[in-house]
Amino acid sequence: MKNRVSSGVMNMRRDTDVLLDEKRIFKPSVETVERAHVKNWETELEKGKDFKKYWAEKAEQFEWFQQWDEVLDESNKPFYKWFVNGKINLTYNAVDRWLDTDKRNQVAILYTNERGHERKITYYELYREVNKLANAFKNLGVKKGDRVSMYLPMCPELLISMLACARIGAIHSVVYSGLSVGAFVERVNDAKAKVLLTADGTFRRGKVIDLKKISDEAILQCPSVETVIVVKHTGTPIEISELSGREIFYERLIEGEPAECDPEPMDSEDPLFILYTSGSTGKPKGVLHTTAGYMVGVATTTKYIFDIHNDDLWWCTGDIGWITGHSYAIYGPLLLGTTTLIYEGAPDYPDPGVWWSIIEKYGVTKFYTAPTAIRHLMRFGSKYTRLYNLSSLRILGTVGEPINPEAWMWFYKNIGKEKAPIMDTWWQTETGMHLISPLPSAPLKPGSATMAFPGIDADIVDEDGNSVPLGKGGYLVIKNPWPSMFRTLYKDEQRFQDVYWNQIPGVYKAGDMARKDEDGYFWIQGRSDDVLKIAGHRVGTAEVESAFVSHPAVAEAAVIGKADPVKGQVIKAFLILKEGYQLKTKLIEDLKKHVRYELGPVAVLGEIEQVETLPKTRSGKIMRRVLRARESGEDVGDTSTLEE
Ligand code: PRX
Repeated sequence: MKNRVSSGVMNMRRDTDVLLDEKRIFKPSVETVERAHVKNWETELEKGKDFKKYWAEKAEQFEWFQQWDEVLDESNKPFYKWFVNGKINLTYNAVDRWLDTDKRNQVAILYTNERGHERKITYYELYREVNKLANAFKNLGVKKGDRVSMYLPMCPELLISMLACARIGAIHSVVYSGLSVGAFVERVNDAKAKVLLTADGTFRRGKVIDLKKISDEAILQCPSVETVIVVKHTGTPIEISELSGREIFYERLIEGEPAECDPEPMDSEDPLFILYTSGSTGKPKGVLHTTAGYMVGVATTTKYIFDIHNDDLWWCTGDIGWITGHSYAIYGPLLLGTTTLIYEGAPDYPDPGVWWSIIEKYGVTKFYTAPTAIRHLMRFGSKYTRLYNLSSLRILGTVGEPINPEAWMWFYKNIGKEKAPIMDTWWQTETGMHLISPLPSAPLKPGSATMAFPGIDADIVDEDGNSVPLGKGGYLVIKNPWPSMFRTLYKDEQRFQDVYWNQIPGVYKAGDMARKDEDGYFWIQGRSDDVLKIAGHRVGTAEVESAFVSHPAVAEAAVIGKADPVKGQVIKAFLILKEGYQLKTKLIEDLKKHVRYELGPVAVLGEIEQVETLPKTRSGKIMRRVLRARESGEDVGDTSTLEE
């Protein structure tokens, strides 16, 4: 099965044409290099060539209950196994390990929100909280391998509950709190979660969003859930039906639970979590990560790319509902014993200086965010940035989509004050950890994620897997396994093989187009499949289409991405309406509400257009590339398979 380069990529190429002219190079300061764990980037890349040895050395830095026999088992590709027969517990390494050190009473989680509330939890306190909840989970009958879902805001209980799962070997499956009923039901049912954690609400732009209401509605359609644990987070008065035996408040649940719970010795390959993400079809993919490899990959990349030291204060703005939050707001920083700042709120509320005020207030040293947020905040120029002292910042990072050089330069000058280098990290839910990224000692080019991390063999190839010449675009692939690679798609091994491993034989096909320049630097151009990137979030066109057709007025729908200066892309929908319906203001509003109800605010609708027909192949597949080309005024290309 081979995909042709679609014209969606051609659209993106227009934006990336600008990148072809980008020749500026920014070298790291002497101070940055002197502090860095990796002082010479090239030497580290060289070391990574013996990738099994490289990762084994990193793995040795953790505490194992039982040493592994073999670093990598490649006997059943693509079902790779890392650190074979090793026994380890992630929470032991992320929490207990620090109790006998001077980090014991250091802050592990620093939570703050748009109302200025603050909670600080030390490593010792975190240990107790995780264990209490782990014991409570056990009392509810949660066993190793059972799934626990979370539909929680960015709050300490979300981190605690994920760690409590890892403590006892339950598999966590976080549902992003910005997703709505339809998406929630689909994910919780696919995972067959036994327990769900939710909250009274979440703070957003001066309001409280009622998460419990969404959860109540969704849970009616989730028969596997035996217990709902409700966190009192916003303090909104809510009632729960404790008598039903199904609902219980978090604080009551952990009341009287002992603060000691032995960590479950997990096999290296035991599952740690499932995280759902969008693909080309309507059904979200349950990306499955396992224990030891994930731990080693995530901790190593956090340490080297963000150069973590004892005096750091780390802030990753990514929501915990996505992979960025899993790997780099929780696991990476805690595995290194650093303080992770968790912020609940929008970047521009109460005003667009709120993030910069937090950096000043707490003295954040490492700041990791998304290009869409930077593009949003740069519209205010230096009006807000100059009000705050940002001199504590040493390293900046971006993730989620390509960063345009203009946004890169604004971030570099206004936030990093031309001292803090920017780590443009390319990776995915599936990869678990950064795969292409600079290290702080590398020369940077605005808009390029630079080179593959040590131990990673990345390349740009054509459909047959042949490397393309430097400067030419092609498919981004990874040619060797890496420890935090996902192991499968939950309950769908066939799709795992078909989508990622069987398209270009022998390599991992990432689903992105990219090119390498004359210095070997990677420039990511965008997705090669029917996945949109809206404000850095992955949204599948098929998911949006099925949300549309579940509305009574819609007969057929086709959805494409439309370029947006801040969000990267928004949705453009072409709809065939049923007899008697006209696309008037009331119906447009109704459709927007409906899609929001099904998918949540991540599905940002730009335009809706009523059409009489949709371009289809003779077998009835919608040709989105024809719609994309028409929309952007480009040549439609080969239409021989188009049905008349
Ligand atoms: O298209 C690439 C883009 O985000 C996709 C992965 O999305 P997701 O699984 O939601 O994970 C996002 C956070 C890791 C990739 O296939 N992407 C991610 N990082 C970058 C990027 N595109 C360009 N540059 C990046 N640094």
